[in-house]
Amino acid sequence: MPSAIFPPLTSDLVRVLIDADTIQNRVDELAKTITEDYQNVDELVIVGVLKGSFIFMSDLARRLGIPHTVDFIALSSYGNSERSSGNVRMIMDVRENLAGRHVLIIEDILDSGYTLEYLIRNFESRRPASLKTVALLDKPDRRIVNVELDYLGFEIPDVWVVGYGLDYAEKYRTLPYIAEMKPVTA
Ligand code: PRP
Repeated sequence: MPSAIFPPLTSDLVRVLIDADTIQNRVDELAKTITEDYQNVDELVIVGVLKGSFIFMSDLARRLGIPHTVDFIALSSYGNSERSSGNVRMIMDVRENLAGRHVLIIEDILDSGYTLEYLIRNFESRRPASLKTVALLDKPDRRIVNVELDYLGFEIPDVWVVGYGLDYAEKYRTLPYIAEMKPVTA
């Protein structure tokens, strides 16, 4: 039986799109697949894209059965707006040297694709031994640039979502579920 919605939806939120149990089950599956795929690798560097990936990354990382190093990068292209400007800015770089390392980028959501495209190009230039990507959510209807994910949690429709790391104007990031926001009128 699905668990009750906690915390309850506020008036800004339309419905729960993906409940907490469904997310946790999918994170389990992703961790198992990634663990199998990197079985013969000495060490993996997982890089979370701040801020949105912080909850997904911490849940996923704690279920990986392979040695890994944790690092973060902070990028921004949205500000508080609903659409990506396409102008991706690096706010904070990783601390690890990625040359010759096996690197997995962890994203909360793939939308226009600008952020991940920028990051893949940027990281490839550092000559990692391998580079893969995982995102919890994908909104294919919004894609502007073509980016392929190696691992994906859920494909979702083109609605504004919050929770499990994702925000609206910095609110709702710590909800345990993914909820659909009411359309925001400008
Ligand atoms: C969001 C999200 C992804 C990116 C995806 O970050 O966390 O990193 O946008 O969108 P794209 O595919 O259109 O580039 P945002 O800039 O909102 O920063 P945040 O993670 O700190 O909320």
